[in-house]
Amino acid sequence: MSGEMQQLDAHRLRVEEWLRDCFREREPRGDLYDAMYYSLMAGGKRIRPVLLLETCRICGGDPETALPFAGAIEMIHTYSLIHDDLPCMDDDDLRRGRPTNHKVYGEATAVLAGDALLTAAFECMLDPSVSLPSERVLDAAGVLARAAGGRGMVGGQVLDMAGEGHSLCIHEVEELQRLKTGALIVAAAEMGCALAGGSAEQRQAVCRYAGRLGLAFQIQDDILDVVGDEATLGKPVGSDAKSEKNTFVTLKGLDACRELVDKLTGEAVDALSCFGAEGDGLRWLAQSLAGREK
Ligand code: IPE
Ligand code: IPE
Ligand code: MG
Ligand code: MG
Ligand code: MG
Repeated sequence: MSGEMQQLDAHRLRVEEWLRDCFREREPRGDLYDAMYYSLMAGGKRIRPVLLLETCRICGGDPETALPFAGAIEMIHTYSLIHDDLPCMDDDDLRRGRPTNHKVYGEATAVLAGDALLTAAFECMLDPSVSLPSERVLDAAGVLARAAGGRGMVGGQVLDMAGEGHSLCIHEVEELQRLKTGALIVAAAEMGCALAGGSAEQRQAVCRYAGRLGLAFQIQDDILDVVGDEATLGKPVGSDAKSEKNTFVTLKGLDACRELVDKLTGEAVDALSCFGAEGDGLRWLAQSLAGREK
């Protein structure tokens, strides 16, 4: 394992431990906490929390103090996946290599588990034990609130659903992808910088990096929905075609999409120049995601 890979893997392990600890004591509320834990600990890639912690580190902060925020963004991402898989949305049965939340716990509990994960995220970030200046906490929590809602991820999901069954133009698809996926990825980087008390120049650089990364990430997701392997992906292949989604692949074809992922990845890497060698972990992350198979 290279040094960069080791550093990022250490972030991943640390956030998983932190999330596990959050659920050590569970309220007796029917299946609710089991359902939350089931999806949260099913083994996602943890891109968003890893990005947040590494951005915090390279902007001069202590990733340990940022853990509640890294956990929070993973909770919101997991809630978005639980709801995304519901019969009223993408209607998928497999996620992170397991039956989807509603298949195991039923639709009502799956909706509520998503709601509770969204709320728990804010509880974690605003916990009195968070050991950071309150202006940084407010800054980061505000970034996440804006990125997760109607002007961000939820808004993108609305555009994604509204576009089913009829053709959107490339600008419309780019906008829906920027919102449904890009917003949380940019928020992860921006929060890491905010929590570290990074400079305006650093903040601009990590946001630019994450904007390119987020778009490349969703285009790669669309490619894998066509050519991926279900067992490796841990989610169904062909879900987009089944729902007649608009994706970069439907508009531009696979080859052009692969080229675009490479181009965006190059731009993401270039955006980190102000960090010098300290940016190598994030450079490695962008490059490894461009070639991912899951
Ligand atoms: C899946 O996200 C949904 C998209 C935004 C493309 P990830 O590919 O990060 O899913 P996990 O967290 O690894 O399961
Ligand atoms: C979903 O996009 C993005 C979210 C906000 C959850 P997709 O519907 O393409 O994600 P997958 O392919 O089901 O993971
Ligand atoms: Mg979807
Ligand atoms: Mg989906
Ligand atoms: Mg997809």
